[in-house]
Amino acid sequence: DKAGHKHFMAKEIAEQPVVLSDALAAYLTGDGIALPDPGVDFSRIDRLTMVACGTAFYACFTAKYWFEQLAGLPVEVDIASEFRYREPPVLPGTTALFVSQSGETADTLAALRYCKNKADRILSVVNVAESSIARESDLALPIHAGVEVGVASTKAFTCQLNVLLLLAIKAAEDRGRLSAEDRDAMLAALRTLPGVMNAALARDNAFEHIARQLSEARDILFLGRGLMYPLALEGALKLKEISYIHAEAYASGELKHGPIALIDKTVPVVVMAPRDRLFEKTVSNMQEVMARGGKVVLITDAKGAEIAGQDVWHVIQMPEVPEILTPLLYALPAQLLAYHTAIAKGTDVDQPRNLAKSVTVE
Ligand code: F6R
Repeated sequence: DKAGHKHFMAKEIAEQPVVLSDALAAYLTGDGIALPDPGVDFSRIDRLTMVACGTAFYACFTAKYWFEQLAGLPVEVDIASEFRYREPPVLPGTTALFVSQSGETADTLAALRYCKNKADRILSVVNVAESSIARESDLALPIHAGVEVGVASTKAFTCQLNVLLLLAIKAAEDRGRLSAEDRDAMLAALRTLPGVMNAALARDNAFEHIARQLSEARDILFLGRGLMYPLALEGALKLKEISYIHAEAYASGELKHGPIALIDKTVPVVVMAPRDRLFEKTVSNMQEVMARGGKVVLITDAKGAEIAGQDVWHVIQMPEVPEILTPLLYALPAQLLAYHTAIAKGTDVDQPRNLAKSVTVE
């Protein structure tokens, strides 16, 4: 049931404020963050190894920034197909964490099995509670996204990010890096996010016009720094899988190490840049793109638009949120750009060619 939407993907994008509220209600019971028993004590963990595929991997990659910055916890992230065959050393003190919407992804499951009897503990972040990955973990944390039908993952991604952010906040607290007051302030901001997401989704029609123009491109680049780098990767994946337009993401700072050679007036560049600590640096990369005729779609907040929105091709304005919440919010414009571009191209949005919802063979 598409609940009045044209596609499951549109429905699942629109549902995000509601499922995020549900997920928060499940994890924020009483005082602070409540995990299912027996919980996790991050003060006893030396390092975290996070493994997943595709969009779930980009959720892990985002979480690396959170765990390192908030909790000072060393994190390694890897895609499951590389991890499992590289057979890396898993030292005592390691907790291994696997993220999977379906809980059945073959490579992720194989990576989990590789870590058994090597890692101190195996955690998973899943949408399907009865899945193989959930069953074979010491502790499975549900993301509460509800059934996701669209092949392109949307609400599962933001709900994965939500659980991973809660874990990072808990890790910061367990490791003595975050006071109860600061934790409460973060959680209060997180609780306002569903409302903020609704405001962002209400600007849906701004995307159609931009998407029609993007649909004529052969190649599109995505740029971001810090927390926006994994988001740029996710935006490029979303776009390519449903619109079949070649899209690639780079960390903004990598631009001059190669990809800037691609820039001309035929290559749109989507720059994801909330006004965070790294904003000025990203803007200077954006100006390098514009100086070479590149057409920039800048996704930023009101202050960012005021500072840097003058000569860009298009600005997509997002509400302002604290820096740690930007990945959850900026996932929405990434999804909407991909969705509307695919619609403009006339592709099968819910069932893109060559793709399966659950990849149970490697
Ligand atoms: C992209 C997408 C895929 C999945 C990947 C992992 O939109 O949906 O990249 O994220 O196949 O699937 P799960 O999360 O089920 O392990």
